[in-house]
Amino acid sequence: MAAAPKHDVAEIAHKVLKLCVQERQNVPSQPIVSIVPPQNEREIGSIAKPSQAPSSIDVTLSHAEKIFGYRVRMDHPRFFGFIPSPASDLSWLGEILNSAYNTHAGSWFQSSGPSAVEKHLLSWLARDAIGYPEMAGGCFVSGGSMANLSALMVARDQKLSFEDRSKAVAYTSDQTHSSLAKGLGILGFHPNQIRKVACDDKMRINTTLLQSAIEEDNASGKIPFLIVGNAGTTNTGTVDPFPELAAIAREHGLWLHADGAYGASALLCKSRRSILNGIELCDSLSWDAHKWLFQTYGCGMVLVRNRKNLTSTFGTSAEYTQDAAETAESFPNFWNYGPELTRPARAMKLWFSFQLLGLDAIDNYINHGFELAEIAQSSLERLPDWEILSSAQMGIICFRYKPSGIPAESLDGLNAKISQTAIEENLAAPLTTRIRGVLVLRICCIHPGLSGEEMVAVIDGLNQVAKSLLPSIDSKTNGL
Ligand SMILES: Cc1ncc(COP(=O)(O)O)c(C=O)c1O
Repeated sequence: MAAAPKHDVAEIAHKVLKLCVQERQNVPSQPIVSIVPPQNEREIGSIAKPSQAPSSIDVTLSHAEKIFGYRVRMDHPRFFGFIPSPASDLSWLGEILNSAYNTHAGSWFQSSGPSAVEKHLLSWLARDAIGYPEMAGGCFVSGGSMANLSALMVARDQKLSFEDRSKAVAYTSDQTHSSLAKGLGILGFHPNQIRKVACDDKMRINTTLLQSAIEEDNASGKIPFLIVGNAGTTNTGTVDPFPELAAIAREHGLWLHADGAYGASALLCKSRRSILNGIELCDSLSWDAHKWLFQTYGCGMVLVRNRKNLTSTFGTSAEYTQDAAETAESFPNFWNYGPELTRPARAMKLWFSFQLLGLDAIDNYINHGFELAEIAQSSLERLPDWEILSSAQMGIICFRYKPSGIPAESLDGLNAKISQTAIEENLAAPLTTRIRGVLVLRICCIHPGLSGEEMVAVIDGLNQVAKSLLPSIDSKTNGL
């Protein structure tokens, strides 16, 4: 049998890193959104298939450039859709380090160095950032959906007997992220076991309606067990009133989970931290480092007020892992704290970034995101014909173009077209969402690389685009 070809690892590493650095530097001048044209899809298909003989590094990297060229640059400073990924270069470099060391971070035996970092980083975030007590802890997972799923499973195990599960009810707001309903579905709950409570005029969960829903369900023999509060909704960046939610949860003996996948990072920004007051009263919290902590995908955390709740849900043992069994609680096996057994040492890239950036820079970067949305708001307020449907909060603002004389039924189409045109012209990528049924442009602007002046220019550019589209509105059909 022929031996596997020997590679010059140093040469490949040099070429790969050179391309990566070049790509990172070029992001701001590249198309924000680039989708494979249907006629080119076959070409990608042909380079996707492995061939019998090996390819050279140069050919393979040129293919990689072609493949990666077709994507939304989620890390582009003017990509404002979904939750962008303003990842620091230090994160991908930390990831390379982590990947090269290739630690199995399941047990202390296999990963005592990186596991010690994970433990100390999580307890620092839990105690110093959130304000949790000493017994708090957590686990790194792949992202917000897995963090939410993990917390929901703990909530179920802490609050329900097996027999109770079919009668159980969970409460979210109508703005809660879809990963919560998905997580409850994965855990075997029926969609009608989720009560999506309506929001008040500020898009926060209406606590009066929540209180009566719980009382109603209790009276009819159902078993309320969980409230999910939003620590920064995806749609508008809204924070639910945690002190009130905690009082309701305490009164009825329910678990309180905070979805801070997006917004929990405000805890590391001294001047904005108070927006999350009361979050320390929650039993569990999701927090994504790949959103507003400047990490590459996938890096999320689930944190709990009492770490023993994680081990009682996720703790496992097997004959073949007996040599790696936990010897003391202070030397944790993270496979007992979350759903994965084999898992990368995800904490290491966050550690690497924290080390090289320092907390003051993180604080400034997060504050900058808040400020950019506020700058967008004041620019919009100076222009006629723009309506703000959700004010700047947590780096998110929702608005629409609403010139006089345009029939209401044309506004959704007009605003969708503004978004498409801005993307086609590579001005910016504000995607659309709906606020109380109305189509709006949504800007989530958390990239530290976008200046305030550039944000003003983006809003001016959107105004030009909007005005240029007005003549195309057909007055007979009122369409575009
Ligand atoms: C508030 C919130 N929760 C949860 C999620 C899901 O996180 P992930 O996409 O990392 O699974 C998101 C994603 O945008 C989010 O904004």
